[in-house]
Amino acid sequence: MSGKQSKNLNRRQFTKAAAATTLAAPVIVPSSVFGKDAPSNKITMGCIGVGWQGGGNMGRFLGIDDCRVLAVSDTDKNHLRNAQNRVNRKYKNKDCKAYDDFRDLLARKDIDAVMMALPDHWHAIPAIIAANSKKDVFGEKPISHTLREGRAMADAMAKNKRIWQTGSWQRSVFNFRQGVELVHNGHIGKVKRVEVGLPSGHADFNRTGNKCPDSDPPKELNYDMWIGPAKMEPYNRCRSHKNWRWNYNIGGGQLMDWIGHHCDIAHWGLADTEFGIGPDDKIGPLTVEGKGDFPDPKAIWNTCTKYRINCQYPNGVEVVIAGGHRDIGGGTKWIGEDGNWVHVNRGRFKASNPEWTKRKFERGSKKAYYSQDHWRNFIECCKTRKPTITPAEVAHRSATPGHLGLLSMRLGGKKLNWDAKTETVTNDKSANGKLGKNMRAPWKIDSIA
Ligand SMILES: NC(=O)c1ccc[n+]([C@@H]2O[C@H](COP(=O)([O-])OP(=O)(O)OC[C@H]3O[C@@H](n4cnc5c(N)ncnc54)[C@H](O)[C@@H]3O)[C@@H](O)[C@H]2O)c1
Repeated sequence: MSGKQSKNLNRRQFTKAAAATTLAAPVIVPSSVFGKDAPSNKITMGCIGVGWQGGGNMGRFLGIDDCRVLAVSDTDKNHLRNAQNRVNRKYKNKDCKAYDDFRDLLARKDIDAVMMALPDHWHAIPAIIAANSKKDVFGEKPISHTLREGRAMADAMAKNKRIWQTGSWQRSVFNFRQGVELVHNGHIGKVKRVEVGLPSGHADFNRTGNKCPDSDPPKELNYDMWIGPAKMEPYNRCRSHKNWRWNYNIGGGQLMDWIGHHCDIAHWGLADTEFGIGPDDKIGPLTVEGKGDFPDPKAIWNTCTKYRINCQYPNGVEVVIAGGHRDIGGGTKWIGEDGNWVHVNRGRFKASNPEWTKRKFERGSKKAYYSQDHWRNFIECCKTRKPTITPAEVAHRSATPGHLGLLSMRLGGKKLNWDAKTETVTNDKSANGKLGKNMRAPWKIDSIA
């Protein structure tokens, strides 16, 4: 590219052109390319939802030199002020802006990318507004509260050519990648079965238990905005910050909390491509059949406590997703036709041949996408316009067996036949109407309203 040509390109065009020619290494855009109007070569960021995971994610982005956090947004004034102060302390100034309403942050033209770590019912709307505003998104797992919302999100990212990273950070940890490479390179032979072991019950994150009375919301919380598109219910401390995940109005229980981790890894191993399942491959289960134990639907914590979901995938592969069943160990275990296996979990790595788990073991020529730092991978991809290690389509496909398993359980264990290309249940038309949810007015997503 000549100097004259490069001067005529804006920043996004430049990074896109650079990505098209040099995919191997991240492109650092020199500000000299842009003349006197040069934006810095930092990715500017807004952080929306700065509670538990959002605080952690924000800390990661604050630690990346070529990223600059400009603004934060939260419905809880305490979380908002803490985050704002933290950013200002880091940069030794008072520049970080704090917004009660995420739409004001998304309206800023000087923000390139957003980190969102919101309760599940709030994943879709801000992500789609962000994509339509041409912002890249680091979003959390599970990508969506409902299957239809996940479809709309992946479509919005694709239509707007946005970079999306899912917080499924296990993909950026060596034992998970090595496990995947062992499978891709045929060490366990043809995969016959995959076991995905997830937690059961409920965890009490706020030490509130599940027996709080309804009450007025605390004065620091804009409860109407917090409950947003979900059904309006009285404020209850036991299903507020962090513990919202144990109630289906907002969350999806242990199954949906973890599906974007271990099922995501299971799919990565099954997909013999660099980026896992997708972005163009419409892979998914052929059938899904789930059975689970549910508390009283009116209970404060009403999500499934014990579950087992059997899925048939193409090529005769069986995937079992279970929580609370002793025969399925935590993490992801791929099992081959001849009984060889690889089992990965956080801090654990086992295989039928212990040699395979050594870092230096030569896995073979098929290399999985390499990322050592999930947050940095996002920032690099914002620059190169190369897909991240967990794009939106991949995250949507990873969550799909969870959404369908939950639906099957709620239909009393009905086996659902699934067409992964059209994303429809083919043996029960009425089930298709249960893959989305009505949103509380005025909130809506036009593409699925
Ligand atoms: N990747 C991981 O390992 C990991 C771990 C924990 C949680 N998560 C995910 O992160 C997300 C958040 O979970 P959490 O445990 O941090 O929840 P949390 O309740 O601790 O934090 C959510 C924050 O979002 C704020 N919020 C709610 N509605 C908002 C709105 N409309 N605008 C702005 N802020 C709003 C809340 O006030 C709160 O501060 C979930 O999707 C969860 O599954 C991922």
